[in-house]
Amino acid sequence: MSHAAQRHDFRDKPRAYEQLAQELGALLAGERDTIANAANTAALIFGALPQINWAGFYFLKDGELVVGPFQGQPACVRIALGKGVCGTAAAERRTLIVPDVHEFPGHIACDAASRSEIVVPLISGATLLGVLDIDSPHPARFDAADATGLERLAALFIAASAAPLPDRG
Ligand code: SME
Repeated sequence: MSHAAQRHDFRDKPRAYEQLAQELGALLAGERDTIANAANTAALIFGALPQINWAGFYFLKDGELVVGPFQGQPACVRIALGKGVCGTAAAERRTLIVPDVHEFPGHIACDAASRSEIVVPLISGATLLGVLDIDSPHPARFDAADATGLERLAALFIAASAAPLPDRG
């Protein structure tokens, strides 16, 4: 268990996410670099959330999702809009909670250990920037409280990282 995980008691998810949001706000304060902020956001989430095996970003570039900073096993690099959980959440611009990835048509298996997944689209104004993707080796790991908490973290990341991504497409 990581140091961060010991600092957060996710039996009270809203409270734990509130603490995490405060930590993320402090971590991103004063820094506008998107890649730097994505790297630190992924590392904070991966270290803090229990029972996950992948946390990171895909960014929209030239009309497809391309993997960005993450923690976990190496991942597939490019995902078309509308494909997999990430591409579907991006195309539909809504958070997707998948309790069993084996039952999601077109799920893209990057880490065979993954059993459930949550994907939060990153939207700034009318612009889709990409997605925040979290995987778990446990079925039904994510619920509405995770969606609310992770959407808040995603909003903090977007607000902090106003500099345009290179070649956003
Ligand atoms: N499972 C995702 C692909 C990304 S990995 O989980 C890191 C999907 O179906 O889109």
